[in-house]
Amino acid sequence: MGIFSSLIRAAGKPKFNSAVLLAAGSGRRFSDDTAKQFAMVAGESVLVRSARMLEESAEVQEIVVVTRETDIPGVRNILKKAGITKVTRIVAGGDTRQESAKIGFDAVNPEADYVAIHDAARCLCTTAMTEAVFESAYVNGAAAAACRNTDTIKRTNGTDLVTETLERDNTWRVQTPQIFKADIYRAASYTCAKEHFYATDDCALCEHVGFPVHLVDVGPMNIKITYPEDIVIAEAILKSREPKEQTT
Ligand code: CTP
Ligand code: MG
Repeated sequence: MGIFSSLIRAAGKPKFNSAVLLAAGSGRRFSDDTAKQFAMVAGESVLVRSARMLEESAEVQEIVVVTRETDIPGVRNILKKAGITKVTRIVAGGDTRQESAKIGFDAVNPEADYVAIHDAARCLCTTAMTEAVFESAYVNGAAAAACRNTDTIKRTNGTDLVTETLERDNTWRVQTPQIFKADIYRAASYTCAKEHFYATDDCALCEHVGFPVHLVDVGPMNIKITYPEDIVIAEAILKSREPKEQTT
């Protein structure tokens, strides 16, 4: 086969994208007994809401769920009952979010073109938000959902003493999904593991190895359930998304 026909074939090949859904935390800030991924938001659990969003995204071909080992059978059951069909594997997470993300990434189809890493706790994310992040990842290689910051951010010295005020216009709050060309994330995560570099999000791994990361402004509604009050906020956001009744 000639070089041109190979190129055309490569360009025309449909993408195979994987999503890693992180649900292996214990939600300490949320509750002592219920892990927040199983908490209900307007009648549906946080986990099922996040899984359904990925299920409904045309850009996602498989979902790998990362959860606590003891929750694996329960999670399998919950997702099956909810009609989620794209789950290929449910794997036990690690002690930190970064470890869970690595375990999840290592479990996706090795042929995956792009990998979206998403916190189950961000259960208000929409398919439109995710697809906007995919579009940027297709162009840039690494992209994350985010919103412009509206508060002034100050750095302290570890106590309450301010050492620096950041220029507000250039600060963003970074969310998930964070989406990467699989080869890029694989290389970044390998180097970071070797160098014992730890971070609280996945983009930081790419930043650490010097790969540019782009942000996609999806607005402030893609909240993460962290505290019990967030359920109230999440339900209000969902209500605001309901179609308005016609008034004549
Ligand atoms: N997560 C994970 N594995 C861990 C820690 C976190 O998969 N070892 C997941 C959580 O389930 C969550 C997401 O990463 O969906 C974001 O983490 P966070 O909001 O911090 O959740 P928790 O760690 O569960 O909560 P907390 O920090 O309050 O204990
Ligand atoms: Mg945590």
